[in-house]
Amino acid sequence: MNKLYTQTAQLAAEYLEQSNHAAIQVSDVARQALQQLDVPLSMAGESAADVIKSLHQFGSPATMKMGSPRFFGFVIGGAYPVSVASNWLATAWDQNSGLEKTTPATALLEKVSARWMLDLLGLPEESATAFVTGATVANFTALAAARNLVLKRSGWDVEADGLQGSPELNIIISEESHPTVYKSLAMLGLGRNRVIKIPTDEQGRMRPEAFPEVMDNSVIITQAGNINSGSFDPIGQICDLAAGKNAWVHVDGAFGLWAMASAQHCHLGEGMEKADSWATDAHKWLNVPYDSGLAFVRHPEALKSAMAITAAYLPTEQAVRNPSDYTPELSRRGRGVDVYAVLRHLGYKGVEALVDRCCDCAVYFAKLFSQAGYHVMNEVVLNQVVVDLGSEALNLAVLDAVQKEGTCWVGQTIWQDRLAMRISVCNWQTTTEDVAESFAVIHRIAQQMTDTLSET
Ligand SMILES: Cc1ncc(COP(=O)(O)O)c(C=O)c1O
Repeated sequence: MNKLYTQTAQLAAEYLEQSNHAAIQVSDVARQALQQLDVPLSMAGESAADVIKSLHQFGSPATMKMGSPRFFGFVIGGAYPVSVASNWLATAWDQNSGLEKTTPATALLEKVSARWMLDLLGLPEESATAFVTGATVANFTALAAARNLVLKRSGWDVEADGLQGSPELNIIISEESHPTVYKSLAMLGLGRNRVIKIPTDEQGRMRPEAFPEVMDNSVIITQAGNINSGSFDPIGQICDLAAGKNAWVHVDGAFGLWAMASAQHCHLGEGMEKADSWATDAHKWLNVPYDSGLAFVRHPEALKSAMAITAAYLPTEQAVRNPSDYTPELSRRGRGVDVYAVLRHLGYKGVEALVDRCCDCAVYFAKLFSQAGYHVMNEVVLNQVVVDLGSEALNLAVLDAVQKEGTCWVGQTIWQDRLAMRISVCNWQTTTEDVAESFAVIHRIAQQMTDTLSET
């Protein structure tokens, strides 16, 4: 048994070593070979060692190297070694982390890291924290609490009576809200379409002067970190518009919330501590393994009433923090362990340095593109850079060729009605050398493609 674990750890370590230098995109050969895993299920099964060997032989080469310091797609991060290691340990613990009484270790690690994060991010210390799978579920979880409390204050118990016949809620969102916000609204029975959309400025920020008067029974969903530009809505100002009303302000900060840990960048979210709830991902900018999202809610009882369950066979102790009182799931892994490990490893200064380093790399990218005569389409205020190389056809052709070349990986987006290249710097390892090397490849390919396109 022990041998299986040590051999597997060795394979995983080799994979991690090599993946920093390997081509990021999955090759066609590796994709083909992957079919070797598509076998009929045998009657008798196979040895554990053979299963792992086969996974490594055919699975590992067919993984996109998303943990590479030169992976700039999708606004995601890698995973700090301490968090990969803690993840292995937590997997070995195999704790069903719903209840403090039965899993004290994972429950305590969540409680402690929740306290650390509220302080690190400047959020109200009384807030409750839910450790969920990602920002989509974090948004869902926080908005469930929002829906319940706002309706409760207007005399409706959505927990008991559902939404049929309830007072109307005004859901105020941004023209630039992330698509998963709509999904959360749909899952909550609030509907994707029954929203008031606030127009945005050229950086994708909600324009406060375009707000209608905020009425009672409103839920306002703001954004800290636009997926293209990285910009923040003026959250403090929006909170002021909602003050004194039966209203709830939520912040979707899937990656941007971590900027609050940086003295240099926290001005972007000025006043956001006045909001009622915040969602973020640890698996993005905090660089822990998937899946790890977080919801912070200023009103713990509202979150608890939306999420907690009671059952005769479950111990109920009011004085302790049961993780499942705050999350949609009852049974789940101890995902707080990785968050705890990486925070303890980095400390306040380490998280700040991570944020600042990524932002510096984004600014450096923008500088290199601008100096070479390309159009950087956004104000680079955080870790996001949107570039127009000259035409949509060129953007698309270069993107494709860069991805195939393998040194780095950049994604595409539509920004200001134009198909453009989007670069997100979120990885704990990325340095200015990675930026320079990646830019050189993009620039070379863009020049070649420009020549080719002008010949045709
Ligand atoms: C602003 C925003 N909200 C929500 C999400 C969804 O996050 P997840 O994929 O972790 O559920 C993302 C993902 O990029 C995002 O950028």
